[in-house]
Amino acid sequence: TRCSTGTSHGKIILMGEHAVVHGEPSIALPFPAVEMTATVCEAKGPLTIDCSYYNGIAAEMPEILESMRTAIHSAMAELQVSDENLAISLASTIPAERGMGSSAAVSVALTRALFAYFDKPLNEATLLRLVNISEKVAHGNPSGLDAATASGDAPLFYIKGQPFEAFPLNLKAYLIVGDTGVTGQTKEAVSSIAAKLNGKNPQPYRDAISRLGTFALTAKSAIEANDPSQLGELMNQAHAVLSFLDVSSPDLDRLVSAARFGGALGAKLTGGGRGGCMIALARNRSEAEKIEEAIRQAGAIRTWIYQMGGTEDV
Ligand code: PMV
Repeated sequence: TRCSTGTSHGKIILMGEHAVVHGEPSIALPFPAVEMTATVCEAKGPLTIDCSYYNGIAAEMPEILESMRTAIHSAMAELQVSDENLAISLASTIPAERGMGSSAAVSVALTRALFAYFDKPLNEATLLRLVNISEKVAHGNPSGLDAATASGDAPLFYIKGQPFEAFPLNLKAYLIVGDTGVTGQTKEAVSSIAAKLNGKNPQPYRDAISRLGTFALTAKSAIEANDPSQLGELMNQAHAVLSFLDVSSPDLDRLVSAARFGGALGAKLTGGGRGGCMIALARNRSEAEKIEEAIRQAGAIRTWIYQMGGTEDV
């Protein structure tokens, strides 16, 4: 049988999640340690989609299956083809709905696989435009950050409505990523912040969003100046502000505290929050391993160590 594949990877938001939706700066990193592959094969009969990637969460989150269907239909419409005689499946190591951009990664991989199958070139602008259609279904009001980071290889600095700016991550430090094992709720978290900003007393929430933006800007300078302590401090402050916005959770707070007690320069939730993943910063690999152990003890179901840049230490 004739088959084509499309791939993408996870992403980590270092700074600016949620604030990016409201026009503030953000920084996100591609996270190739977790990957997504979509396969489109020739088949007899009507379209079939293997949704086992979303086993266990599809029932609570019908929008993620809907966003998958939207991704397929948007690509088909752009390609001007019908969906007959195709079998589509996904294989992935990205934990689904944990703040690693899984929904964007699914759409990116599906779109790439379909364009490959129909032998049509796909440029970045078309890819991001198509993925944004399904991301609206998944998240309501996506900033576009997830799709760009899941499809590209560079760390990105991004302000909504402006071009993505790739920048070198020449910081000698390590990120430790910990998964609470609890499904995040990006859509609800995004809309709860919108409700606060449109509510009776919006000022404290507006201030919180703009502080998160300032942290992202300052974090960019800290990275450029190779200053891990300052970046860690900004991560701690960002976690406090995200908690004030009510997008943390007891599980995230427990892992964040464990990382700090374990010696992290800073720690915060990453992505949509209310579950999902957290990140912590360490100066070198041996400190990173201690922090990794601390967050495992505190209940992380999976952990990763990500070398941010600079030279490998011994
Ligand atoms: O939870 P994730 O991986 O989908 O990340 C969401 C990031 C937000 O800033 C909360 C939303 C967005 O569209 O940027």
